[in-house]
Amino acid sequence: MKIDAAQAERLAKEFEDKTAQEVLRWALNTFGARIGLASSFGAEDVAIIDMMAGISKEKTNVFTLETGRLNQETYDVMDDVRTRYGIRINAYFPDQKEVEEMIRSQGMNLMYASVENRKLCCEIRKVHPLNRALGELDGWITGLRRDQVATRAETKKIEIDAAHGGIVKLNPLADWTSDMVWDYIKKNNVPYNKLHDSGYPSIGCEPCTRAVQPGEDPRAGRWWWENAAAKECGLHFDPTKKSK
Ligand code: ADX
Ligand code: SF4
Repeated sequence: MKIDAAQAERLAKEFEDKTAQEVLRWALNTFGARIGLASSFGAEDVAIIDMMAGISKEKTNVFTLETGRLNQETYDVMDDVRTRYGIRINAYFPDQKEVEEMIRSQGMNLMYASVENRKLCCEIRKVHPLNRALGELDGWITGLRRDQVATRAETKKIEIDAAHGGIVKLNPLADWTSDMVWDYIKKNNVPYNKLHDSGYPSIGCEPCTRAVQPGEDPRAGRWWWENAAAKECGLHFDPTKKSK
């Protein structure tokens, strides 16, 4: 099942006035389990899992990029979600040889040495496994929101992902705020990553995420030693577009 650019543009306009649940219902009806949620089990992603499971457990396809460097709290919420919804979670690991070679040549903590090294680690531990996951799908769903960071301000609820073979990329929470996400989680008693209660609004890998102070930018704790312009892990980067 493929959707072309003109159809995607038309749907993007139509979806602007639709709720996240309506957009997800369309996706599961159209693609079934051929569309998968990329989940880091952050607040946005667990809210989406709750919505998807409410529409159809059978069609709920969730995959995660298991970088090998995640926090224990992230593994805990993965299992909480698995138990609560009775769904399978597909974990994509990095290529063993690529990781072994990277560690041999650059060491375990290469990410702090240079932006280039950090990007190499993200490329091997996240981007290559993402490419593998998306190679099996007609579309993917993300928890991207427009107000997270300037590069996401133009995010549409449906896009064609030119960087991944022209499959559909669905961002059902594009117009949500963080408060809306948390209202949804609390109202529906959705399992969430306990690091969120300790000052972590945005959670990535353990070596590359720290807590933020009240009032600090919510993404300030991601790759905190780099300047803001360099903070790009490559998951949502489309070289054919100016922004993500
Ligand atoms: S990142 O590019 O800076 O790492 P962020 O943490 O904001 O991304 O997450 C945005 C969206 O990217 C998530 O809602 C999720 O859809 C996807 N994502 C991020 N990290 C992962 C991961 N490890 N596994 C699967 N999906 C992920
Ligand atoms: Fe490696 Fe850090 Fe990127 Fe995770 S976020 S893949 S540990 S550089």
